[in-house]
Amino acid sequence: MRRVAVRLRPMTRLRPLRPDEAPEAAARWAASFGGDPREAVEVHQRRIDDGELYGLETDDGPVVGHCRLTAVGHWLGGRLVPTQHVAAVAVAPEHRGRGVARAMMRAAVELGARGGAGLSLLFPATSLLYRRLGYEHAGTLSRHRLEARHAPLVGPPLRPAHGEADWAAVRACHDAFAATLHGPAVRPPDRWEQLRAAAYHFVLDPEDAAGWIEAYLLYDHVSDPDDWRHQLAVRDWASVTPRGLRAIVGMVGRHRSMVTAATFPGVFPDLWTTFIDEQDVREVGGMWWMARGLDLPAAVAGRGFPAGLSGSVTFSVDDPLLPAASGPWRLEVDAGHGRLSPATGARARLDARAVGPLFTGFRSPRALALAGLAAGDAAALDWLGGAFASPAPVLLDFF
Ligand SMILES: CC(C)(COP(=O)(O)OP(=O)(O)OC[C@H]1O[C@@H](n2cnc3c(N)ncnc32)[C@H](O)[C@@H]1OP(=O)(O)O)[C@@H](O)C(=O)NCCC(=O)NCCS
Repeated sequence: MRRVAVRLRPMTRLRPLRPDEAPEAAARWAASFGGDPREAVEVHQRRIDDGELYGLETDDGPVVGHCRLTAVGHWLGGRLVPTQHVAAVAVAPEHRGRGVARAMMRAAVELGARGGAGLSLLFPATSLLYRRLGYEHAGTLSRHRLEARHAPLVGPPLRPAHGEADWAAVRACHDAFAATLHGPAVRPPDRWEQLRAAAYHFVLDPEDAAGWIEAYLLYDHVSDPDDWRHQLAVRDWASVTPRGLRAIVGMVGRHRSMVTAATFPGVFPDLWTTFIDEQDVREVGGMWWMARGLDLPAAVAGRGFPAGLSGSVTFSVDDPLLPAASGPWRLEVDAGHGRLSPATGARARLDARAVGPLFTGFRSPRALALAGLAAGDAAALDWLGGAFASPAPVLLDFF
């Protein structure tokens, strides 16, 4: 993310926080999200050093709110879309209810668009604030629970992982797996550190003893409040083969004398449920995330499209916050790639809030039309729907 300041109006501007402002940012964060402000200073210091924390400053003095902005690639259609993450949106309690968050988010959106990000993504503590700025729900983060007694003893056993070589193989397995899904972000180093802290690391070696591992499982034991047994809390897993998927299900089954259930992050229902006899997996947590369009040509150029589709359609976007995103645009798709260029007319019209869920494939244009967020001739809406059609968009990590 480029470290540039954005002037909104004479009274406020968004600028990178200075190193001496870390204690104040930590206090604002703790007042907003809970926790001990003294313990949070170091991480805020590091984020300021990395140029990730931006504060909204008023002309009469103090920074009244801050947010974390990072540039991340997201897998969409088998390719990486440059994306802005917005996180840790925090307004000091005494400054709330006066439009600080709205002003800060407007500036963050402008900054992301100028920096070349195609989409902006966030996890909303409240959706209203972001909806009014052109964001809409655009995908899920899911946690689901498999009762251990319903996990069959299938697949080969995993082996405990040790050392740097196994860890490098785990990361490579994740990267290969994530690229086959629709939505996951490229993992930053600090996320890998969190995952590495899992108590148990297991991997599946390849059948031919050559190449990378086929699957891995990172988990902790947690006590089950309603039982004398415990649960497996899976922090992360991946598999790039059917054998690996079976091994993961079998690993849960092999724990079933003392384990009530395993909870997994991932897509709901995950592909390994094809090895479970009945519908014995249920969602136990998760969250919807929101997206908004920023630099739309970048969002289209970065994303993969259906390889068999060829053609074009025109559309416009009603985006008062980012007039440059309004179009009208011509979307051309050929051989799995897309291109967005200025057009003269538009057969479909999108509300700014339609762009996020359309571009991630979370909502079809017909569904968005039903919600009052899109309009146009049926053929144009259907063609757009075919272009952006995808598996359910999912994130594997909270940010
Ligand atoms: C949520 C938060 C950032 C809002 O900051 P703020 O400066 O008070 O918000 P604004 O005054 O700019 O409000 C803008 C719009 O957001 C919405 N909004 C603000 N706070 C809201 C809340 N707590 N619940 C629901 N909607 C809210 C309102 O719709 C408001 O528009 P309106 O005044 O036209 O109704 C602030 O309360 C905060 O820091 N909370 C704790 C941390 C947090 O939840 N952060 C969000 C993480 S995603």
